[in-house]
Amino acid sequence: MKKRVLTGIKPTGYAHLGNYFGMIKPAIEMSKSDEFDNFYFIADYHALTTLKTKEEMIEYTYNIACTWLACGLDPDKVVFYRQSDIPETFELNWILCNVTPKGLMNRAHAYKAVVEKNEEENEDKDFGVNMGLYNYPILMAADILLFDTNYVPIGLDQKQHIEIARDIANAFNNKYGKTFTEPEEIIQKEVHTLVGLDGRKMSKSYGNTIQLFTTEDVLRKSINRIVTDSRLPGEPKDLDCTLFKFYKLFANEKQTKDFGDRLLKGLGWGDAKKELFEVANDYIKPMREKYNYYMSHKNEVDQILKTGTERARTIARKNIEKIRKKIGV
Ligand code: TRP
Repeated sequence: MKKRVLTGIKPTGYAHLGNYFGMIKPAIEMSKSDEFDNFYFIADYHALTTLKTKEEMIEYTYNIACTWLACGLDPDKVVFYRQSDIPETFELNWILCNVTPKGLMNRAHAYKAVVEKNEEENEDKDFGVNMGLYNYPILMAADILLFDTNYVPIGLDQKQHIEIARDIANAFNNKYGKTFTEPEEIIQKEVHTLVGLDGRKMSKSYGNTIQLFTTEDVLRKSINRIVTDSRLPGEPKDLDCTLFKFYKLFANEKQTKDFGDRLLKGLGWGDAKKELFEVANDYIKPMREKYNYYMSHKNEVDQILKTGTERARTIARKNIEKIRKKIGV
């Protein structure tokens, strides 16, 4: 049997270059190999902990759906769906709640971060915490375990969630007999090094991201905001700089070598940014065109997701039946 690869993106904002190089691109590459059976989805119910309005939910859900398609997801090959269209996930979520120790959730990073912040600010420790945030890792375990997932491509920040999913799988298996496959995370090396405009990790919470699909103009402006040092044209540049790190993502080996040589010879930051824009834009342009196409043909996107949902639910129904039997329901 083929190994199953499953991953989700939560629609809490527009996809940025960190999402693309860290997770989307490697996940798409895995889906092109015949070795795997791929399930990729939009984790809309996970986004509920963050989103403020229904308009945001609709906008970002289509953004993520169209981003997957634009980046090369082949809906004939990949089972592609919205989390909220798989009710079996939420049934499993409840079942898993009952084998998950509360202490395990107390230790989850996202929840712990809020508690620590509250403590620093002398607030009640659970101030601003709702049960969606608290139970987030259990729902994620349900997404994964429902489909007998072997591998989960994710960013480094999600590593603990996969560990938790394994713990929950084990807890259930110990109580009711072997039922769930223990999932393993797949983390891209690039994720460790992908930097944002200011040289820190690219992250929405730092406000240092470059949006993947925007207009050429906004892309150019974002690139112009990349932080450089004060070396003048003619002075050799340090190849460990943020700008060169970006360049390498988009350029081929020969271009990279040539650009690096010229930086060492004193290429000015202004000219370097123009060149970075050119390679980045050449790389993104064909995908951006597909993205814009899907964003203006949402009925096609809905149809693709509907087909994916049917394929996913065929498996989900079968699996939830087995799970119900195990617990005597
Ligand atoms: N929590 C993930 C994130 O924030 C999104 C997600 C939800 C997910 N369910 C998943 C990722 C299942 C992998 C597998 O990025």
